Amino acid sequence: MSRASARACANLAFVKYWGKRDAALNLPTNSSISMTLDAAHTTTCVEIDPGLEKDEVWMSGEPAPGAFASRVIAHLERIRSLAGSATPARVHTSNNFPAGTGFASSASGFAALTCAASAALGLRLSRRDLSVLARKGSGSSCRSIHAGFVEWHAGQDDHSSFATQLADARHWNLVDLAVLVTEREKSVRSSDGHRLAANSPFWPSRTRSMASRLAEVRQALLKRDFHRFGREVETEALEMHAIMQTSAHEQRGAWQSGIFYMAADTLRLINAVQRWRQAGMEVYFTLDAGPTVHLLCLEDQSGDVLDAVQSLEGSQDWRTIACRPGPGAKLLSEIDAT
Ligand code: DP6
Repeated sequence: MSRASARACANLAFVKYWGKRDAALNLPTNSSISMTLDAAHTTTCVEIDPGLEKDEVWMSGEPAPGAFASRVIAHLERIRSLAGSATPARVHTSNNFPAGTGFASSASGFAALTCAASAALGLRLSRRDLSVLARKGSGSSCRSIHAGFVEWHAGQDDHSSFATQLADARHWNLVDLAVLVTEREKSVRSSDGHRLAANSPFWPSRTRSMASRLAEVRQALLKRDFHRFGREVETEALEMHAIMQTSAHEQRGAWQSGIFYMAADTLRLINAVQRWRQAGMEVYFTLDAGPTVHLLCLEDQSGDVLDAVQSLEGSQDWRTIACRPGPGAKLLSEIDAT
């Protein structure tokens, strides 16, 4: 039996991956930029065990839900075929944060699984190869392979679509105060949301503007220009939500005008950010496909921003996780050795 364990952090996109050119390969419509988040991670152990009749997937010590287990097994299958193996595996995975609430748990999950399974199967892959492989499990996970600030190059095909590091974790003291306003699971999975994006009448205009958005965010980030960065990143999040909210579709036999990932408290917090900025606080927000509000500020403002959040009515029911630029995906043996 061979075994390997790996840990990977979630990541927060500043320029979003929303919409796929190829759903089977997770080739995105546009490139994206993210920060790897130190405080939110998945740890995964893969045991290749000839004594098993079939693959087993465990999540936090319980048998994993069917849909998730099938995705994990499909990804294992990809990695096994690269290694020329057909031996069943046991996968144990756990997150240190709640899944489905605006933290891309699939990002940390598939990055950790890719590292652990490839090591357990004896594959020695470069970061680029790990990123290509992780992408096929879940698109955003290809960014979690790297530490710090990361760009996923959309590419043309399977081999040219992968992430690289833009700047290491020490480049900028940016803080993401992730405010989980509800831990209710989202109603439309992001895989479905990606497919529906092109239904929005605003989709063609979004795709036209992505190259300049990417350049603007990349430049502001590399120059550590927080005003420029914050404005562009906040605009980007709301543009993605405008696409989501206008992606008309049928759901369980009923027509829906779009997808609403925001909760009432998401909007309340967004309004508060606008007030705080008028009062001179340097804080911006971004959102993913969920109700969590990611408040972005520099380290020296993070105490004030946290106090401001805690002064809001009802905030005692929220959970806030402070994340800073984090490490790339690693085998636990590499972590133990440092
Ligand atoms: C809103 O990577 O979860 O977080 O490739 O179908 O697994 P799949 O989608 P996923 O999409 C993430 C969408 C997002 C934006 C982002 O992280 O860039």
